[in-house]
Amino acid sequence: MTLALIKKDLLALVKKHGTPLFILDHRKIRENYRMFKKNLPRVQCYYAIKANSNQEIIKTLFNEGSSFDVASYNEFMQIYEYIKHFEKKDKHFFIWDKIIFSNTIKDRDTLRKIKRYRPLVTYDNSDELVKIKEYCKTAGLVLRLKVPDTGSQVEMSSKFGAEPADAYDLIRRASDLGLAVEGLSFHVGSQCTNFDNYTAALGITSEIFHDARNKGHRLSIIDIGGGFPVPYDSHVPRFERLAEVLNAEFNRLFPEDTEIIAEPGRFIVATAATLITEIIGKARREGKIYYHINDGVYHSFSGVVYDHWIPNFESFKQGKREVCAVVGPTCDSFDKISLSVHLPANLEIGDYLYTKNIGAYSTASSTKFNGFDGATIIHA
Ligand SMILES: Cc1ncc(COP(=O)(O)O)c(C=O)c1O
Repeated sequence: MTLALIKKDLLALVKKHGTPLFILDHRKIRENYRMFKKNLPRVQCYYAIKANSNQEIIKTLFNEGSSFDVASYNEFMQIYEYIKHFEKKDKHFFIWDKIIFSNTIKDRDTLRKIKRYRPLVTYDNSDELVKIKEYCKTAGLVLRLKVPDTGSQVEMSSKFGAEPADAYDLIRRASDLGLAVEGLSFHVGSQCTNFDNYTAALGITSEIFHDARNKGHRLSIIDIGGGFPVPYDSHVPRFERLAEVLNAEFNRLFPEDTEIIAEPGRFIVATAATLITEIIGKARREGKIYYHINDGVYHSFSGVVYDHWIPNFESFKQGKREVCAVVGPTCDSFDKISLSVHLPANLEIGDYLYTKNIGAYSTASSTKFNGFDGATIIHA
């Protein structure tokens, strides 16, 4: 089944499973992963689990041969599930080769727990180095740099990344502590449609990379983070064009033996899910129709808050469209999904709406606020 699922199929699924219904299309996940790999042949793809941590997604990507970006011990354990039966040597190799702890701040307990392996971890400050030295000196280190994130849907550089001017000191400090710095990383902000952010970041990174190597540090990894844009609408520039820019920059800036890795989250899962919701109430407020539906910003639409995402809504019924509001089911006035959606004015209680491209940063940050369970997730 694909998400070109026709309306009839969606309604059949609703009949079987009820609403709200979150349909995850694993064929699309595989397609996105393969497209990423095909267009960026030099890049090792680490799926950023934070975008959607559903275990079935991890299983699908594990079976595709994906690597993984984790931010916590629990996310690490979601992958460990599939390697726990490996021989010790293979298990250790997998963890070293295919997992990165991309959270620049790791608590001491996590470091203690992963010390028995040789984990690849990021850092961006000297206190973190001291902590890593004390609790997980087996780690390989990747220094995360602050880079421009202009115009990205979610900016990153205000919370993470060392100033490029401090980078060499942080590499030397790690080295003085006897820790191994393996490479450099950055994140240009999520849903980055301004490709200049990537070229600027690669330029900054390559200067630091070559300078450190000239001074005797054996850096070999460049981690270009996430940010790869999803075609939410027709204005989003194509991923294939970004890939061309990136491939040219890799070849221009880095020696052939540099290991280039990326941490796409949204790109892999956003287009792989559709949500079907039901209208549970309808009211005219100050002249505008408010459709109250059975999912909201505390649940599958949490991306409206945390991801600055603007969802689309489509109806199964035809009718004269007008500007409507779509709001969530909770008893909370903050639970407004959109105050400006063009929908038919003739929809009634019991009718359904559907929202495409809702696979990333949605159910991952859903709560059970106000006693609402959130959507049933099914796998197609
Ligand atoms: C360190 C890190 N890597 C990768 C990602 C995934 O980014 P995206 O979903 O934009 O690809 C994130 C998301 O915020 C992140 O924080």
